[in-house]
Amino acid sequence: MKTSTAISNRFCPQTLFLYGTYRDDGTPNFGLFCWFSYVWDDGLGIMACIGGEKLTKDLIRKNKVFSANLVSESLLPLADHYGHTSGYQSEKMKLIPDIVPGNVLNVPVVVESPWTYELEVVREIPWGESDVFLCKIRNVMTDGYYDDETVPFDERLRKASPVLTTRGTYYSLSGKNLGAWGTPQQSLRRLSTE
Ligand SMILES: Cc1cc2nc3c(=O)[nH]c(=O)nc-3n(C[C@H](O)[C@H](O)[C@H](O)COP(=O)(O)O)c2cc1C
Repeated sequence: MKTSTAISNRFCPQTLFLYGTYRDDGTPNFGLFCWFSYVWDDGLGIMACIGGEKLTKDLIRKNKVFSANLVSESLLPLADHYGHTSGYQSEKMKLIPDIVPGNVLNVPVVVESPWTYELEVVREIPWGESDVFLCKIRNVMTDGYYDDETVPFDERLRKASPVLTTRGTYYSLSGKNLGAWGTPQQSLRRLSTE
């Protein structure tokens, strides 16, 4: 029987993205984000909700462009670190993944991410304590493998291994618990002290 429950999205897991921007000195900054979805006008577009004040928001407002890099299981420890360290802290970007420049926009693209959007902001909507950025997708970057239609899509999706999140926990596509927010980054600390 269906009954009313508290307002939440607990059974609606979301994929995670690293939003990449360039700081004024040309070095990259990454933050972790899940309030991300799609819109349609004359083609596929994106809406991104960013709460509070953070470096990613400052840089998106200033430059009007950013990358959204799908977080795969292999990227999770680094992504978790970027989601728990403010860009205003100078040591945040001591660990940087391999990046290449966007093919269309001046944005940092994470090589290891299976799917990267190059995004241009066309409208910013203040929304209470947050701001919603409506964006045009100017380009998608991926490895040729993910574009190979001769490989069954299920197989490619499993290889992309996007990380899902709900209720403060990370999950694999098949529902495996990948740890509470804040725990995957601990493996980076172990590596850096070994
Ligand atoms: C799993 C996860 C998802 C997050 N999703 C969002 C989000 O959608 N919107 C947001 O404003 N902050 C989100 N955050 C918080 C930012 O990642 C965090 O504020 C980060 O420090 C931003 O980086 P920056 O300071 O370099 O901009 C999320 C954090 C985690 C751990």
